[in-house]
Amino acid sequence: MINPKLKVFEIFDKESAILISGIEKPNPMTIGWGSFGTVWGKPAVTVFVRPTRFSFHLMMENNEFSLNFLKPEFRSAINVCGTKSGKDTDKWKEAKITKEPSLKIKTPTVKEAYLSIECVTMARVKLSKEDFLDPKINDFYPKFDYHTMFIGEVVNIIER
Ligand SMILES: Cc1cc2nc3c(=O)[nH]c(=O)nc-3n(C[C@H](O)[C@H](O)[C@H](O)COP(=O)(O)O)c2cc1C
Repeated sequence: MINPKLKVFEIFDKESAILISGIEKPNPMTIGWGSFGTVWGKPAVTVFVRPTRFSFHLMMENNEFSLNFLKPEFRSAINVCGTKSGKDTDKWKEAKITKEPSLKIKTPTVKEAYLSIECVTMARVKLSKEDFLDPKINDFYPKFDYHTMFIGEVVNIIER
């Protein structure tokens, strides 16, 4: 299913991905954290979204998302989608990226991505201080805006 050459321990950290959430008005947001694996017998991707993101509400309201990996030449698109908010910006236009319809979900993918993953959210898990066994994790949350983990079933993979 997923290309075995995919470096799952590096791909989020070294490349960053663009998460698309929302059906009526899909919104691109850069994410640097995530994981691939098997959950509840399904191929799965988990992404981490803080409640302060515009994308958070879209993720809560629409139980699907797409994850899109772009080559290094799209660094400026990653920067735009990771610094501006869909609340007041059309990031598709500003980041110069294009919507492409997905095959299995209503949320689009990013046409410029070399790898797009269509997901249906199976579960949402809100993290809180009590969950952290390693106290150093608290350093990531000076404003106590703990991520919610969205665990998605991978329903389609597009390699371009
Ligand atoms: C490289 C990079 C990685 C990021 N990773 C995440 C992430 O995993 N989770 C998250 O909630 N925000 C992450 N952000 C921050 C959001 O992308 C940023 O706040 C964005 O403006 C939110 O967009 P939105 O308000 O349209 O949802 C990251 C930003 C950058 C630049």
